[in-house]
Amino acid sequence: MTGHTIGFIGTGVLASSMIRGICSSGELSHTRIVTSPRNAAISSELAAAFENVSVASSNQEALDACDWAVISVTPKLGEAVVRELNFRPNHTVISLLATKRLDTVKSWMPPVGRMFRMVPMPFIAHRVGPITLFPAAPDMEEFFGRLGRVITVEEEPQVELTNAITSVTNATYTVIRDVADWGAKNGLPPGASRDYTIAYFEAMLSQISGKYADELPRFVEERTPEGVNDTVMKMISSRGGFALWTEALDAAIKKIRADYM
Ligand SMILES: NC(=O)c1ccc[n+]([C@@H]2O[C@H](COP(=O)([O-])OP(=O)(O)OC[C@H]3O[C@@H](n4cnc5c(N)ncnc54)[C@H](OP(=O)(O)O)[C@@H]3O)[C@@H](O)[C@H]2O)c1
Repeated sequence: MTGHTIGFIGTGVLASSMIRGICSSGELSHTRIVTSPRNAAISSELAAAFENVSVASSNQEALDACDWAVISVTPKLGEAVVRELNFRPNHTVISLLATKRLDTVKSWMPPVGRMFRMVPMPFIAHRVGPITLFPAAPDMEEFFGRLGRVITVEEEPQVELTNAITSVTNATYTVIRDVADWGAKNGLPPGASRDYTIAYFEAMLSQISGKYADELPRFVEERTPEGVNDTVMKMISSRGGFALWTEALDAAIKKIRADYM
């Protein structure tokens, strides 16, 4: 039991992923959670699945019942929803609104105890993946650190850079799919090729995960000269294959920042 009651204003994909992560986490699983009535199907399903989750009859009731309030509606609805709420001065507010900086959200409400911007990903349901946090706070890092890897940033525009990094998702899955398809086209049974490829990528990531992160430069460079890894590296880099990824990220951050108002 953490002693906190977390209220979710908006119970959609991300709120339900966070709630599932919290409720399956052992240490945090008895945290009291109050959701807004919308979405009705999702909130009632969560309340039926977990005894510590209840559904409030209004957004205000969810807010009144909690000390940590998560703003988890879509950015477009954020202002209208937040302006209608009566916050207490001692509320801790966590905004998930993707295209709104904290100063903007603050301008819609009276001053509250603390405000954070957070970017969890739906993987949080399985207690994995990065969770961007701004600004730093040890209790937030401790709580959410049990639900994923908290990456605290020192300046708010850095939140947007972490958003941009997630834009390589489809491209990365495409690389994995194409590698597996290549194996299958060349004679491996398709299932074996897919399973081998995924297990190989998983193992590569595990070698640079957590405390092994400093090993990344070594793994980039370590290969036999004129070996097959060397062949692949030379062909992809000489045709601009790697440069294209960072150019694409430049385009992604530009698009993300253009959405801010
Ligand atoms: N999904 C992601 O991967 C992701 C990643 C990073 C950040 N975010 C951010 O997280 C926030 C939530 O995203 P999401 O993907 O969870 O969106 P979502 O699935 O659309 O959920 C938003 C929820 O808000 C509810 N809602 C609508 N009007 C409301 C109101 N007046 N009062 C209370 N609830 C209301 C909706 O209910 P109805 O269904 O009844 O309309 C819906 O359940 C967004 O600000 C987004 O920018 C999302």
